[in-house]
Amino acid sequence: MKIALGSDHGGFPLKTRILAYLKKRGIEFKDFGTFAEESCDYPDFAYPVARAVAAKKYDRGILVCGSGVGVSITANRVKGVRAVVVTDAYTAKQSREHGDSNIICFGGRVITAAKALKLLGIWLKTPFSGDERHLRRLRKIDK
Ligand code: RB5
Repeated sequence: MKIALGSDHGGFPLKTRILAYLKKRGIEFKDFGTFAEESCDYPDFAYPVARAVAAKKYDRGILVCGSGVGVSITANRVKGVRAVVVTDAYTAKQSREHGDSNIICFGGRVITAAKALKLLGIWLKTPFSGDERHLRRLRKIDK
């Protein structure tokens, strides 16, 4: 699995923890930035990640900002992206099984790194169910 990763300054510390998590597990990724804690604008990182995932250059994306909201709003503007802000295990799992979510978003200021990594693990390993009723709903979104 190939992952595209990005954050703004508010998500930078958590992104650093996520990078270590991916490296430790040998999961292939590209870090689209930001690369420092200086204040920056989340669309500058969320949009390239979303474009790359929509173009299927990467299987999944991970975006982090202060709340998770700014990056998710940005990413969901790109057709083919299904980005979800995750703060609980049920949403992590169901967003994959039902929604075939392809980008997970975290708020670096609202979730601990330990919890985010646990939820990321659930999200990464959960497949889309492929059920017809879910496919029908996803087709309606694209339409
Ligand atoms: C940056 O201060 C903050 O607005 C951003 O990280 C994010 O939380 C926006 O939704």
